[in-house]
Amino acid sequence: MNLYYTEEQLAVKEAARDFAQNVLKNGVIERDTTMEYPTDEIKQMAEMGFLGMMVSPDYGGGGMDTISYVLAMEELSKIDNSCSVVMSVNNSLVCWGLEEYGNEQQKQKYLTKLATGEWLGAFCLSEPEAGSDATSQRTTAVDMGDHYLLNGTKNWITNGGKSNVHLVMAQTDAEKGHRGINTLIVESHWDGVSIGAKEDKLGIRSSDTHSIMYSDVKVPKENRIHEDGFGFKFAMKTLDGGRIGIAAQALGIHAGAYELAVAYSKEREAFGKPISQHQSVSNKLANMATDLEASRLLVHRAAWLKDQGKPYANAAAMAKLYAAEAAMKHSVEAVQVHGGYGFVKEYHVERLMRDAKITQIYEGTSEIQRLVIARNILKGQLHEPLLAAST
Ligand code: CAA
Repeated sequence: MNLYYTEEQLAVKEAARDFAQNVLKNGVIERDTTMEYPTDEIKQMAEMGFLGMMVSPDYGGGGMDTISYVLAMEELSKIDNSCSVVMSVNNSLVCWGLEEYGNEQQKQKYLTKLATGEWLGAFCLSEPEAGSDATSQRTTAVDMGDHYLLNGTKNWITNGGKSNVHLVMAQTDAEKGHRGINTLIVESHWDGVSIGAKEDKLGIRSSDTHSIMYSDVKVPKENRIHEDGFGFKFAMKTLDGGRIGIAAQALGIHAGAYELAVAYSKEREAFGKPISQHQSVSNKLANMATDLEASRLLVHRAAWLKDQGKPYANAAAMAKLYAAEAAMKHSVEAVQVHGGYGFVKEYHVERLMRDAKITQIYEGTSEIQRLVIARNILKGQLHEPLLAAST
């Protein structure tokens, strides 16, 4: 693995940092308080090419690699995770799956609009009773010959109220279990699609999270992705890449909280010197910095493996597990470094602490990442060690 970034990768990181610090930072506290969706900010992100970064230019995307994507995700996530989750879902869970498994007609019709950010996509797997246990789909897609009849409810859907296209997992043949699940492309304006109220959340408060109800929605057969019964594998393979995006989001939260803690500890004085000079504070900074580097290496390794066309499911699970746990732990510590100021919104660090929590939950909880990693260990399918992977 090359630990040096290319000029292009560094330019993407710089553009994302500039945008986050100079555009997203303005109003981020107010949007978090009021839950107002960042409409203008998402439009600007689309114009900058952040919503379809890795899609081929043939379909309107940026044609960039996964390393560039995680560098941009980290910078945006230092400031506004309601924006970076939109970027992660649109890139990893929607565009990637369509580009990898959609047919040419589906790519021309949907991917071209999603890659430019003209349209937004949603990934509709979770249900009221199927979160971690994702094979237990209750949503049904009954085969009616030339179309499927879709019925069911999806929960906690990012971009739920703003998306034009939903990728919906549904059970067509219950007897086949997960091999009877299909993924269907559903347009949000179709008859029978209804959107629940926006969720009032602990973190990423201005992101657009809703339940979506499907009632006798007619989905043309041509909108099924890949072959009959591939829908669950489609979801799993897509989530492998999604987990890299969320790991990068967690990394950004951690990095943002760390940068705030370092700056504050050098300014704030107590007992006659900056608090950074007190060992109880400097030890926290050292721990934050060390775990930050460890997270970054895991995230970048998963991204690198994906770019090399090597297996990355396990590396993605490890990156998400480690980065999410570290983001939670160290954003709490960053609040502690700030003392009373850390507890008020103006200092930004309490928002990062609240945002960190969701990275331990969505796109597979930390418990599910451990389950995935442990199964790979026990099957003897742990991905190759770092040095072997570079040969
Ligand atoms: N790639 C390809 N296939 C995979 C796979 C992968 N990474 N993981 C599993 N599969 C396949 C298995 O091979 C198996 O197929 P076969 O029987 O044909 O071999 C099938 O999928 C079922 O797998 P398991 O037998 O392992 O199923 P399980 O029920 O024991 O466990 C699970 C599955 C890994 C726990 C899975 O349910 C899971 O990942 N759960 C978490 C769900 C999740 O991440 N949800 C996120 C929601 S989306 C979201 O959060 C988006 C957002 O808004 C931000």
